[in-house]
Amino acid sequence: MASSLQFLVFSLLLISISLSHAQPSFRPDALVLPVSKDASTLQYLTHFNQRTPLVSVSLVVDLGGQFLWVDCDQGYISSSYSPARCRSTQCSLAGSTSCGNCFSAPRPGCNNNTCGLSPDNSVTGTATSGDLIQDVVSLQSTDGNNPGPIVTVPRFLLTCGSTFLLEGLASGAKGMAGLGRTRIGLPSQFAAAFSFHRKFAICLTSSTRANGVIFFGDGPYVMLLNKDVSQSLIYTPLFINPVSTASAYSQGDASAEYFIGVKSIKVNEKRVSLNASLLSFDSEGVGGTKISTVNPYTVMETTIYNAVTEAFIKEVTSMNITRVAAVAPFGVCVSVKNIGVTRVGYAVPSIDLVLQSESVYWRIFGANSMVQVSDDVLCLGFIDGGLSPRTSIVIGGYQLEDNLLQFDLASSRLGFSSSLLFRQTTCSNFNFTSNA
Ligand SMILES: *[C@@H]1O[C@H](CO)[C@@H](O)[C@H](O)[C@H]1NC(C)=O
Ligand SMILES: *[C@@H]1O[C@H](CO)[C@@H](O)[C@H](O)[C@H]1NC(C)=O
Ligand SMILES: *[C@@H]1O[C@H](CO)[C@@H](O)[C@H](O)[C@H]1NC(C)=O
Ligand SMILES: *[C@@H]1O[C@H](CO)[C@@H](O)[C@H](O)[C@H]1NC(C)=O
Repeated sequence: MASSLQFLVFSLLLISISLSHAQPSFRPDALVLPVSKDASTLQYLTHFNQRTPLVSVSLVVDLGGQFLWVDCDQGYISSSYSPARCRSTQCSLAGSTSCGNCFSAPRPGCNNNTCGLSPDNSVTGTATSGDLIQDVVSLQSTDGNNPGPIVTVPRFLLTCGSTFLLEGLASGAKGMAGLGRTRIGLPSQFAAAFSFHRKFAICLTSSTRANGVIFFGDGPYVMLLNKDVSQSLIYTPLFINPVSTASAYSQGDASAEYFIGVKSIKVNEKRVSLNASLLSFDSEGVGGTKISTVNPYTVMETTIYNAVTEAFIKEVTSMNITRVAAVAPFGVCVSVKNIGVTRVGYAVPSIDLVLQSESVYWRIFGANSMVQVSDDVLCLGFIDGGLSPRTSIVIGGYQLEDNLLQFDLASSRLGFSSSLLFRQTTCSNFNFTSNA
């Protein structure tokens, strides 16, 4: 009897040892996600596994989005999901003080005593209300060179949106992945789950056929052939807009979006005259410059747009480039004749966003300024945002492609690479072949 009990204890011990060997506690330094470009909407899409059993969920990348939201009305099946109960630590982490009930059969998105948030479709500017829930998400770690072991966050916080909120998103998308500056944005939750640096980087592809990449955590970020693009970045402070820019918000909420301090703009190294007060926030949080992945092209307040495009037209005219009829949504188009080609795209005047000092600027070259609309017409990829937009300059996706942008939340600064084409690589050059 005693010996069989001893044997049982011994075997249990063995089982627990072998179990702990079967699941080594691997702690990643960084995670990696593929990002594609949707040809019809020009949105950037990512996908990763979620729920139990795991399914791959496609999401539109929203750089300034507050959190991850998905459609819970249709097809949300998971045995591991749970609602965040009112006044729980999850609700306070998410900054939610609301508390709701639901009068139909319980399912994801319909629970009693659950706190809620406002999932926001930032493409259409539509928000609704939805439950805060938690569920499993699983994605690939990386050493910076290749994807490594798959890691899991068992209680990732997300918000339930509705089927109607998907309107305007790329086909197949089930929600949006918010990388914004909140405690439940993807970067902060992943950093907290694995205790790594509160940094992430986006590298958007210019091709609709090859994936770009998002890294969570610090570099190296290595592109083929062996180029660590986390090196030699230019740094500029990130600013917080004290007034939320979301489609729905409560008074006192700050914006989750990433703002930078553009002080002036130069075209072909010549300063353009602008109304400087548009470049900072007024008391209502209007003005300033933000970076967005949901705007396909840079949008500028009308007087800024006019000043920049006039300077650009003047410069191209002196280069004997012929202006042709505009092709919507652009206002300035030129004939491709007489335009040379360089490593960084068409040889057109550079556009510099001058930052904290004259020597710190984000230079936009032809590859990021000129959009080829037909065989012989190129258009300046900037759009007139009207006379009183919420934000004076919104740097859009086309201007971000094949540039690495690293957001450091702890020290509130942006590191940017300028065009990677100079370094003879692109954002679609991460080696997604797993070596695990
Ligand atoms: C919430 O509580 C009400 C009243 O007790 C009940 O009728 C309803 O079915 C509950 N809803 C859910 C989703 O459990
Ligand atoms: C500059 O912009 C501010 C903010 O929109 C506006 O109030 C002011 O009138 C503008 N100044 C000029 C000279 O246009
Ligand atoms: C532009 O064209 C004119 C007339 O054809 C020519 O004289 C001039 O040299 C050209 N300028 C440049 C910069 O190519
Ligand atoms: C990509 O990574 C895989 C796995 O490490 C490796 O076998 C392959 O050679 C790499 N591809 C290139 C082009 O370097």
